Amino acid sequence: MRRSLSKKVVITFFFIFFIGFSIFVSSCFEGTGKARRSSGIKIAESKTYEASLYRQNCAVCHGAEAYGKEINGQQVPSLRFGNAENKTEQELYEQIANGKHPMPSFKDQLTDEDIRRLVRFIRRDLQGKED
Ligand code: HEC
Repeated sequence: MRRSLSKKVVITFFFIFFIGFSIFVSSCFEGTGKARRSSGIKIAESKTYEASLYRQNCAVCHGAEAYGKEINGQQVPSLRFGNAENKTEQELYEQIANGKHPMPSFKDQLTDEDIRRLVRFIRRDLQGKED
């Protein structure tokens, strides 16, 4: 009788421990996907002028949320992470204004002010950096 009681206690203890442990583990992994890594905004929900510029001109290639996209086997880079993070604002400006094959140049479609706004949008809103 005593033995079976302590067995129950041990089983109950492990059961509770197991549940607690699973909750702990799942909370560690929760949102480790793109959303968690991003310190930036969600473009689809943003009502700013810059977000609409992005949606109209850039989303087709760089993806709705700027995580990059594969088009015809070619990888279009993310604007949130990677190379784009290491570019200076001047380099970002030049990339958008002049393009770089296969990315088209935007200097005839967007004003200087629009391109500057997009540069700030990438740096601040997408990459979450303040510089
Ligand atoms: C037709 C598809 C296309 C469109 C539209 C486009 N891009 Fe790109 N973009 C690319 C590709 C492809 C590259 C990679 C070029 C390379 O290999 O250097 C790129 C690179 C970039 C880079 C450099 C990223 C890096 O990793 O160094 C920036 C910044 C950028 N694009 C911003 C924009 C912005 C802002 C717009 C909208 C105004 C835009 N792009 C529109 C295809 C596109």
